[in-house]
Amino acid sequence: MSKPVLLVTRRLPENVEARASRDYDARLNLADTPTTPAGILAASVGADAILCCTSDRLDAATVSALPASVRVISTFSVGTDHIDLAAAKARGIPVCNTPDVLTEATAELSMLLILAAARRAGEGERIVRADAWTGWAPTQLMGRQVSGKRLGIFGMGRIGQALARMARGFNMQVNYRNRSRLSPELEQGAVYHDNDASFLAVCDVLALNAPGGAATMKWLNAERIAMLPKGAVVTNAARGTLVDDEALIAALRSGQVSFAGLDVFAGEPAIHPGYRELENAVLLPHLGSATIETRDAMGHLALDGVDAVLAGRLPGNLVV
Ligand code: DGY
Repeated sequence: MSKPVLLVTRRLPENVEARASRDYDARLNLADTPTTPAGILAASVGADAILCCTSDRLDAATVSALPASVRVISTFSVGTDHIDLAAAKARGIPVCNTPDVLTEATAELSMLLILAAARRAGEGERIVRADAWTGWAPTQLMGRQVSGKRLGIFGMGRIGQALARMARGFNMQVNYRNRSRLSPELEQGAVYHDNDASFLAVCDVLALNAPGGAATMKWLNAERIAMLPKGAVVTNAARGTLVDDEALIAALRSGQVSFAGLDVFAGEPAIHPGYRELENAVLLPHLGSATIETRDAMGHLALDGVDAVLAGRLPGNLVV
């Protein structure tokens, strides 16, 4: 019996591709060429399923034009803002994602951004690499201590809660802003704010961990940045679309924001060029979930979703 056809849009970890090829007539992207909507449409002709990634754009026009053969889209990501979910729903194409398995890795990366930004790790690394280090000096690259400071987490979902747990290890006082208040068991002493002004006023460090999409578009704008304590540290391990880049760059120049750690960017990989000129910004290439363990788990969970839908079962990781 012939196997169902699975389009895999990008290179995946070896054992995930091996499973895909074992169970499906897998169309792999061995060259790992970034996709375009037109390329996805051409490659999906005759495909039963698509395993895509956060770097693929499945907008409304693309989803609407997918061949009738496509019965499921499973994304190798927890975020689904690259897929027009309403269009998928209208087409009756279920969409699966990879929740839970990347929580710890992404929280680790958020903590790394906080430490790297506040302790000027990027600047220090550049000096050593450039052979420009003249030796230890009492006033060299003094950053901000984060231990004992007030951390504000915008978006207290799984990743935000994991970050809060890690930050408590640094004796940080956790505040959070979220669509709704968590139960005391989940809050673990974190302070909930029901408005931006009271939340931002206590953010010595502001960590963005909320999903992208229309509801959070440019949430961190000039008006909200002005509500932060002067010299706050800002990190973003969520989506670049949460930030008004012009406003954050201006604040990094003026000192309203002392340091930023950014792993995600609007329009990435074509980031706002202003960031590259700023020594006080640590810039990473969307590494949140990039651990061997997590990427394996993401691949297997994405495949579980495809398996379930094609077998007529309800996937545990169904989004719509
Ligand atoms: C996600 O899963 O949404 C990340 O941004 C990609 O790993």
